[in-house]
Amino acid sequence: MDVSPQKLLVTAALPYANGPLHVGHLAGAYIPADVYVRYQRLKGADVLFICGSDEHGVPITILADKEGVTPKEIVDRYHSMISESFRRIGLGFDNYSRTSLPLHHKISRDFFLTLNRKGYITEKSVQQYYCSTCGRFLPDRYIEGECPHCHRQGARGDQCEACGRWHEPEQLIDPKCKVCGSHPELKTTKHWYFRLSQFQKQLEDWQASKSDWKSNVREFCSGWFQEGLTDRPITRDIDWGVPVPLPDAGGKVLYVWFDAPIGYISSSVEWAEKQGRPERWRDYWCDSETRLIHFIGKDNIVFHAINWPATLMGHGDFILPSQIPANEFLNIEGEKLSTSRNWAIWVDEFLEVLPPDPLRYYLEANAPESKDADFVWKDFQAHNNSELADVLGNLVNRCLTFTEKNFESRVPPAGVLEDADTALLAAIAQFAKKISYALENFQVRRAVSEMMDLARTGNKYFNDSAPWKSLKTDRQRCGTILNTTLQLLASLAVVMEPFLPFSAEKLWRMLNGPGTHRDQRWISIPDLRLPDNHPLGKREILFEKIEDGIIEEQIAKLRS
Ligand code: 2FM
Ligand code: ZN
Repeated sequence: MDVSPQKLLVTAALPYANGPLHVGHLAGAYIPADVYVRYQRLKGADVLFICGSDEHGVPITILADKEGVTPKEIVDRYHSMISESFRRIGLGFDNYSRTSLPLHHKISRDFFLTLNRKGYITEKSVQQYYCSTCGRFLPDRYIEGECPHCHRQGARGDQCEACGRWHEPEQLIDPKCKVCGSHPELKTTKHWYFRLSQFQKQLEDWQASKSDWKSNVREFCSGWFQEGLTDRPITRDIDWGVPVPLPDAGGKVLYVWFDAPIGYISSSVEWAEKQGRPERWRDYWCDSETRLIHFIGKDNIVFHAINWPATLMGHGDFILPSQIPANEFLNIEGEKLSTSRNWAIWVDEFLEVLPPDPLRYYLEANAPESKDADFVWKDFQAHNNSELADVLGNLVNRCLTFTEKNFESRVPPAGVLEDADTALLAAIAQFAKKISYALENFQVRRAVSEMMDLARTGNKYFNDSAPWKSLKTDRQRCGTILNTTLQLLASLAVVMEPFLPFSAEKLWRMLNGPGTHRDQRWISIPDLRLPDNHPLGKREILFEKIEDGIIEEQIAKLRS
């Protein structure tokens, strides 16, 4: 029998290094991925959790032009802000890399050359706008004009933000160069195309076996298959990115969506190098037993479920994704999140005033799993105050205060267990099983609600058992009730780890548990026992209530 642990290669979409991290990012890809990874680690799986900054692409060069700085300055700034936000919210990546590294450039070049050698890349002559004032071919986003659909000014070469519709740059009315304002002319140039059309059958056959994929991903792909896959250009005319590794490529770079997913591989290679075992990344990427899981937001579906698997198929050396849990979007106070209108909640600013776990909890309980969700500040406050503080925090506080006052902060020995005690201990196993089932199926919302229900069950037991009554009449019975509740708290600390890692650690410390709660195994949760007379640690408040004033300030900030 094979007893080696399940190998999991988990990735979360590489965020663009063109702005700070906001709560929409966290809700879509990062928190669900982190919850899943923390849970799998407790299960004893062999997990490699990979991410990094996506540092190429036209939005970055446009921002650099606007600020009069280099693209490198932009990505350096946001890479460090984003990685710091991830650290503070508790994202436990094994490696957080960046696509501007020479290592990534080399791996992307090799990837391109392998596909080219195998005949999956073709060169095409195309007509493209050229600005003679700037002396360059213009990528779509460097062209502005009147939208061919809604006739509003300021539409980009590829899409009109006002009406949301897509078009070809040649359809734009009165096109202008975004940099100098002059009228560009159509000229012949060449670009390299990935022959995506050749992979349609292989992709369809492969996806036919993925009945466990979420319906949003499957429906999206079947729409694309029905339309028919076409060859996609994978080069662009900017001087920031991975230069096309061919002698006649004349200043063109690889399209950001070609090199970004390769970042999952290069981040893994970087991780292996940092470990001093440079080939170790192959244990994951080149082993058919590994499950590759890509956590993404819904705007990334086509790239992860169609383009990227096709390039992996074409390359041939690496495994294909097993799962692509894609989430929907998070709105803010009933409106679509918009970074340009500052209708967003920035993670770094949030963490200046509030701790990380209440934010994690809210985004987990309110995860946009099957439809868009809404971040409402008052609702966030209610989740913190009436669930984290009043249910979970209160249970911990009542039990620890009572033990401190009446049993010198030591675990009282359990006497004979009554039905209520055994029922509570049995409930731990049932809840752990339900949470497991939900997390195996990427249902964070359901899983975290079970976690809170376990705390509710504990509160009800504590209330119904009323140790303050037996303290006077039957001290041993009182000790048994506390012993049982303390065992629940130890189990809860481990159950909380995927969702509330900072508070889980704090609770374990308050219980003075052995080692860290992360040394425990998910399967052993029901059997966790603090020994009789075990000395507890120092009691602290697990969750502070959030005052109205703080919430009002945050709402005002959003509207300013
Ligand atoms: O949508 C985004 O933020 C992209 N930067 C995601 C890239 S995911 C991966 F392919 F790198
Ligand atoms: Zn120009």
